[in-house]
Amino acid sequence: MKKNWWKESVVYQVYWRSFYDTDGDGYGDLEGVIQKLDYIQELGADVIWLNPCFESPDVDNGYDISDYRSIMSKAGTMETFDRFLQEVHNRGMKLIMDLVVNHTSDQHPWFKESRSSKDNPKRDYYVWRREPNNWRSYFTPSVWEFDDQTEEYYFHSFAVEQPDLNWENPMVRQEVYSFMRFWLDKGIDGFRMDVINLLAKQAGFPDAENPEDISYLGNNPGIHEYLQEMHREVLQHYDIFTVGEIPFVTPEDGLLYVGENRRELHTLFHFEVCDYMIHWDMQRYKEIQRRWYKGLWEKGWNSQFLNNHDHTRLVTRFGNDSIFRVESAKCFAVLLHLLPGMPYIYQGEEIGMTGVRYKSIQEYQDIAMKNKYKEEVEKGRDPGEVFKSLVHLSRDNSRTPVQWDESPNAGFTKGTPWIKVNPNYKEINVAQSLADPDSIFYFYKKLIQLRKENKIMVYGDYQEVLEDHQQIYSFIRELDHQRWLVVLNISELLVQVNVPESLSIAGKEMLLTNYKNEVDSNVEWALRPYEARIYRLL
Ligand code: GLC
Repeated sequence: MKKNWWKESVVYQVYWRSFYDTDGDGYGDLEGVIQKLDYIQELGADVIWLNPCFESPDVDNGYDISDYRSIMSKAGTMETFDRFLQEVHNRGMKLIMDLVVNHTSDQHPWFKESRSSKDNPKRDYYVWRREPNNWRSYFTPSVWEFDDQTEEYYFHSFAVEQPDLNWENPMVRQEVYSFMRFWLDKGIDGFRMDVINLLAKQAGFPDAENPEDISYLGNNPGIHEYLQEMHREVLQHYDIFTVGEIPFVTPEDGLLYVGENRRELHTLFHFEVCDYMIHWDMQRYKEIQRRWYKGLWEKGWNSQFLNNHDHTRLVTRFGNDSIFRVESAKCFAVLLHLLPGMPYIYQGEEIGMTGVRYKSIQEYQDIAMKNKYKEEVEKGRDPGEVFKSLVHLSRDNSRTPVQWDESPNAGFTKGTPWIKVNPNYKEINVAQSLADPDSIFYFYKKLIQLRKENKIMVYGDYQEVLEDHQQIYSFIRELDHQRWLVVLNISELLVQVNVPESLSIAGKEMLLTNYKNEVDSNVEWALRPYEARIYRLL
């Protein structure tokens, strides 16, 4: 299998506005990330993915960009950015940035011009129509917004303030390539490409049979031509890494984006887990991993993640965020770092931060949640019920500030945080994690170190064992006569299994575990809640 530096990397995601605030405005900033780079380096991450920090009215937390070549004042200045990049490189790490080019802000000068008149040269930078169809957007009941000025509708896959660019227009594509080069020429190491499979739109916008299933937004004819052109014009000229955010995708389609011979992207995030598996579902999760392994292995590269800035923190959503918080955080860490594909750590995951439960909708900031709440309440549904139904998956669950220590506001800011700190910060924080040798933080650190020393974790092939077991997820990784066994009890039960000779762990070296002592049992595999173990079989 072809070896690449990025396949061997662990990525740490920095949602800077919630990371660390140095100027007291309540928002994290790039200076704050600089000050905490040693912390990220201590963990052992190789690559930082920085969420968008470009000029933006901030309707969707920076995913509505009004100037692609400047830094949002909340984040800092271009000077701070340049220093940040330098400091990342000084520590031997790499930086990838968000590329948000499916849409801009409605405050982008292109859109202001585009909406000003039908014959404006920028009219065709966006998608305009005389009649809407029945499609929904991610954040609103319709993808179409009527604009009084020219009495036509424009298309938006997300909020009304995020009009979609018209990728059919070659001038739009050249503008995008040009500012991609601008950042790459500064020396950044690649891009995380926001909803990149949404660029091509369906010709003629036919009505959907089921408008609630918004998969019509993605994977439309033309998308691969755009990405291949982007590769030809920009990507291939730099030694960089790219990961596409690609919803609604099967392994078969996924391979079209990341196949090693395709000259499009290196890896992808698919959302079969995070968009559809609301709580942990062992059989489903195993089935997803099986299918993606079969579909991509030796042909393209996958990513492993269970949360990010859009998806509720993993201990709260899939594990246990009370009595087994530490055990479940470590257990999922083993899962993510031992499955085939690049592991992603979302800030705070490494200390087992949890989701949040604010009391009322007013305390939430997430535009997706707020819009949905409004829509449902306007339909006449009971507000309390609607609120309850939205809390579990609200994006704010993972957007609360990083909990640095037990001082006010978790040491995140000296001002008023843009979003309330999770009240559990006195028990869960970085200072406490760094002081405890058994902490989740040091467990992640060990896992990352293990990966650096053992290429089997990257390039080893994958075979599942005990496929149908409801509590145990176990698999073997194998590379060049080495064989490792991973055994995870993803449940709150004590689980005992008799295993065949080939899975015997008697006398085998245990490489890592999240429990201190062995269980006293006659049965070979006896695992406590969320117990995780890695053995060297060969
Ligand atoms: C992606 C981002 C999300 C954003 C959306 C629109 O899904 O991760 O935060 O709201 O794209 O840009």
